Amino acid sequence: YNHNLKMERSSGLESAICRAKGGAPGFRVAILGAAGGIGQPLSMLMKMNPLVSLLHLYDVANTPGVTSDISHMDTSAVVRGFLGPQQLENALTGMDLVIIPAGVPRKPGMTRDDLFNINAGIVKTLCEGVAKCCSKAIVNIISNPVNSTVPIAAEVFKKSGTYDPRRLLGVTMLDVVRANTFVAEVLGLDPREVDVPVVGGHAGVSILPLLSQMKPTCSFTSEETAYLTSRIQNGGTEVVEAKAGAGSATLSMAYAAVKFADACLRGLRGDANVIECAFVPSTVTELPFFASKVRLGRNGIEEIYPLGPLNESERVGLEMAKKELAGSIEKGVSFATK
Ligand code: NAI
Repeated sequence: YNHNLKMERSSGLESAICRAKGGAPGFRVAILGAAGGIGQPLSMLMKMNPLVSLLHLYDVANTPGVTSDISHMDTSAVVRGFLGPQQLENALTGMDLVIIPAGVPRKPGMTRDDLFNINAGIVKTLCEGVAKCCSKAIVNIISNPVNSTVPIAAEVFKKSGTYDPRRLLGVTMLDVVRANTFVAEVLGLDPREVDVPVVGGHAGVSILPLLSQMKPTCSFTSEETAYLTSRIQNGGTEVVEAKAGAGSATLSMAYAAVKFADACLRGLRGDANVIECAFVPSTVTELPFFASKVRLGRNGIEEIYPLGPLNESERVGLEMAKKELAGSIEKGVSFATK
């Protein structure tokens, strides 16, 4: 098409960014791993988020196509694509929020920990980029095993002297989303009315739904509790098996990631009472990282809530979760400090 028109349009892009930045709050968001199974629907949903003024899509493969495709959506966020390690710094510079779904997903028979050898290095490299180019950004880690990749990120930031524990969050939102859905199914409620806190971590028995604290208040038989706890803990595996080798949860994960990213952005904007569960640097238990309810604000995590009263089966679950978590955290820390 006409070259002059193209020039006009590209200056239009700049003014769109300025407009979004100057008027209603507009945040700059980067997605690392944007062309993947999670990355693509996540990029699409973030392009639809009115809080986003600039969306940077980074991947080591296929970003030009995804970027071109998504940039045609008539929503206000301006989209730019970045391909390969030589463009990582440009992708990250100036970002307010960095979402990381880069890495390999599970196949049937694999645990999340089986992904460690590949994903640990990917997360380390990407976080080194964050430390260098946007050390004040909020970081949302999706890449598994989250129980180890979040400790890796923390070590990278510590090493570079940029660590702010308020800005590092492992995304466990999908566990909450699943818990709300499965509990609503059992109770015959609309899932939107259900809120189940899920604490601990994001793998197997470290995923601990606190059914005794759900809203609306409900009581369950021990069979119902056992069924629900097991289904929530194994929700990811349910999807891996149904996809039969084609990957793990991507669409529900993208939905959950956007729900969580939107909460982070509302916090940055200064909204009150933005509270979600996440796997964060924590003193709620004796472990250095733990998932629990956190309040999000202008600096990221403003407050971490204690676990609250647990019933007997949750107390047993907590001990199992802590045992599972301790090893995964240690594995991440020793990888990043070696
Ligand atoms: P995928 O394989 O479809 O996509 C991963 C993307 O990452 C690919 O586009 C790939 O090119 C890219 N990538 C690989 N190395 C990279 C690097 N160094 N820099 C930037 N991009 C890179 O995988 P999918 O299904 O999107 O899953 C991604 C991750 O999310 C997996 O580790 C998976 O286990 C995890 N996951 C986490 C969940 C959670 O609740 N936190 C839920 C579901 C998946």
